Amino acid sequence: MNSQDNRNIFLTTPIYYVNGSPHIGHAYTSIVGDFLTRFYRQQGRKTYYLSGTDEHGQKIAQTAEKEGISPIELCDRNSALFRALGERLNIQFDDFIRTTEKRHKDYVVKMWERLVQNGWIYKGTYNGWYSVRDEAFYDESEIVDGKAPSGSPVEWKEEETYFFKLSAFTDTLLEWYEQYPDFVFPHGRFNELKSFVKGGLRDLSVSRCTFSWGIPIPDTNHVMYVWLDALFNYQSALDTPEKFKHFWTDAKVMHLVGKDIIRFHAVYWPTFLAALECTPETLSVEAFNKACGHMQIVSHGWWLSNGEKMSKSLGNTVDPVELTEKYGLDYVRYFLLREPSFGSDANFTQENFASRITGELINNIGNLCQRTFTLAHKSCGSTVPSVKVSHPLLEVNLQEEMKPFIEDFRLNQALEVVLTYASKANELVQESKPWALFKTGEQQKGEEAIFILLYAIYQIKEAIAPALPEFHARISKVFNNESFASGVKLNPLPKVFEQIVTQ
Ligand code: MSP
Repeated sequence: MNSQDNRNIFLTTPIYYVNGSPHIGHAYTSIVGDFLTRFYRQQGRKTYYLSGTDEHGQKIAQTAEKEGISPIELCDRNSALFRALGERLNIQFDDFIRTTEKRHKDYVVKMWERLVQNGWIYKGTYNGWYSVRDEAFYDESEIVDGKAPSGSPVEWKEEETYFFKLSAFTDTLLEWYEQYPDFVFPHGRFNELKSFVKGGLRDLSVSRCTFSWGIPIPDTNHVMYVWLDALFNYQSALDTPEKFKHFWTDAKVMHLVGKDIIRFHAVYWPTFLAALECTPETLSVEAFNKACGHMQIVSHGWWLSNGEKMSKSLGNTVDPVELTEKYGLDYVRYFLLREPSFGSDANFTQENFASRITGELINNIGNLCQRTFTLAHKSCGSTVPSVKVSHPLLEVNLQEEMKPFIEDFRLNQALEVVLTYASKANELVQESKPWALFKTGEQQKGEEAIFILLYAIYQIKEAIAPALPEFHARISKVFNNESFASGVKLNPLPKVFEQIVTQ
């Protein structure tokens, strides 16, 4: 995205499967989206942030059966956990959609009918591998040691199905990808995806008839394939003509996804959308441009736990609720945003967590606030001093400096911009020694230093607000919730950051 782009933004998380409770991976995607949403809102961009839960399909039906409850009971219970996690993490979702809602089901049926009308659907028999865990079909050539490429178990299926003519899209899709080099972030993953498509797409089975937990396809005994159902949440949630126009048609659409679900979002989703615009005879790159030329698939890596993949069976999953209860929300948000080089995998360890929080927040930003406000209260009458002074730190607009990094999804570097600025401010404290100036009667000079430092803190709390909303609220209160200016009254400083106890 370039800095001139002023379109509205529609940001989405994947809708989460409700077969289990939320883990750190879910929390991560939601926090990244929330960070971006808050950032773009600060920039004055209208931003709509959507999340929700993915509730149909065999995986959910099987889990409910194992638990001895009905699928909808399972969905109600677990969807509530995901919604509550969003609240716990202070995520500013504009809507939270469930695929069992009427608005969604009605919309998907309408889209299905359009796909049929446009000539993209035919009836046949699926013979091949299926993984219930991934809710994905796999080609024989993809099976490694009897398992899916993801490591999930697969089973052989032979069942009547409706197919979507995905194979017809191979060349046009590749042509469109060439025109749109930023469609998938990061580029490395886009290249992998292109190689997959170059291998040739096969028609996609888009209905199931051996179980019933899904959206019924009218006049058949089939239910919709869960990914077809799920992907349309991104449109069904925009359930008024105004919302649809503002946040789909006229917007930049950013789908945040984990690296494991790129194929669904960057192959199936654009082809479904293009198929709504054309027939097999009129298929063209223009149909893709029209349907999804404003869309970007932004993929992130995986969180590992002490270097290993997190899994329930290894007992090394990190529970986001426990984590925020133990350390507080801001620390968890900060670490998740700061640690990974966005797009790559990252490792979660208590040591890493503690050392970043202590080194970067408590010792750097925390110290700066502590020292500056203490002096402002003690020696400047608890007021932003009225002085005229120039200094390089006063020339900086941190949000503007972070912007290019955020637009390139280099979130860790965007936060580093703030840290570097805070370090410079701390250096100024060391060099100017304002406490000594006040002691020796150099009030004016002392006030000048405090003015610069207060400005720096103000910049920092604004710039870091999308990552640390609680810190932002705390420090804003010290500034009496006013904009930075001489004469602003300063309220007492609460504890800036709690020390971190890892055990
Ligand atoms: N329901 C589908 C998405 C449908 S979107 C139309 C789904 N759900 S999921 O609950 O299994 O996964 C949701 C997201 O969590 C995915 O983006 C996935 O990549 C992410 N993560 C799951 N485990 C993860 C980690 N350990 N680390 C980071 N993210 C990971 O897929």
